[in-house]
Amino acid sequence: MNQAEKERLARVGKKFNARKYIETEIEAIRKQVGDRKVLLAMSGGVDSSVCAVLLHKAIGKQLVCVFVDHGCMRLNEAKEVKKVFKGKFGINLIQIDAEERFLEKAKGITDPELKRKCIGGEFISVFADVARELKEKMGDIDFLGQGTIYPDIIESGVGGHKAVKAHHNVGGLPKDIIFKGLVEPVKYLYKDEVRKVGTLLGIPEAMVMRQPFPGPGLAVRCIGELTKEKLDILRQADFIFRDEMAKAKLDKKAQQFFAVMTNVKAVGVKNNARTYGYVIAIRAIATTQFVKAGIVELPFKFVTGVAEKIATKVKGVGRVVWDVTPKPPATIEWE
Ligand code: XMP
Repeated sequence: MNQAEKERLARVGKKFNARKYIETEIEAIRKQVGDRKVLLAMSGGVDSSVCAVLLHKAIGKQLVCVFVDHGCMRLNEAKEVKKVFKGKFGINLIQIDAEERFLEKAKGITDPELKRKCIGGEFISVFADVARELKEKMGDIDFLGQGTIYPDIIESGVGGHKAVKAHHNVGGLPKDIIFKGLVEPVKYLYKDEVRKVGTLLGIPEAMVMRQPFPGPGLAVRCIGELTKEKLDILRQADFIFRDEMAKAKLDKKAQQFFAVMTNVKAVGVKNNARTYGYVIAIRAIATTQFVKAGIVELPFKFVTGVAEKIATKVKGVGRVVWDVTPKPPATIEWE
């Protein structure tokens, strides 16, 4: 048994019990943090959401959560995070609308890797600005909270673990933003265990069971330059597809399903007039580990219905295609 496994066993035991884990973790957080403060970057994803609620239960107002909207979030995402975590749980949550700042930085960038680097770099820069401001206002914030989970620790090798989970994009913070320690209340848990803890904590099912959503968000589903127009079109198309999947009860069949802005335009016809709109792709995959993925065989009638709805309702869309390529050779995301 390696060090990580020993630590997990000591904290979680042989058989996972969510209630017991919550109790133990709340105690552990209180002991580690004392009367000091913790800053947590929330992404709206399961891990950081569970982390936020656990930390809030343990230390209440000593926790400050920051949600950075980089303009590549899905429709209503920021609003929902606010409603649940600020509204329902009363968590001290600061939302930063940084859409303009991100899009300005990303202007003209079309290369997928450069786009990722740009979003990641700007995220760190925005987060660092917020941390500096908060430290000035509230005094020292000693700890950085993180939604690291057990697979992150395993992936990064025996014994050690990633300094900061890539998902949260706060790795490589500038030197003047120094935290004395990390608080990682779900770091011994597998994803399904994190979901169990989240459910028990009262986080809505839609959030606890959420499909994975990459840190750079829709930036990895929007080919070519990131513009507000393209992202807005994608957000609406994606919302319609996800909504229809849920209504048709097909959402449990796919581990990930989403729309993609292909950046291609094609001629079409609406109301007897010629149109020239974007081609949107839809994709629904089934996978266990995300290393390989198969295509979910959606009913054909459902697919044509979704295609028609998106192309009719979303201004700027001319047609919809269904991506039926497995991984490999394709990746799950379109970049
Ligand atoms: P690909 O596209 O490489 O994706 O087949 C595999 C899985 O990883 C997710 N993904 C990410 N997750 N940050 C994340 O937290 C990222 O930057 C990122 N990029 C891809 C993707 O959604 C899929 O589940």
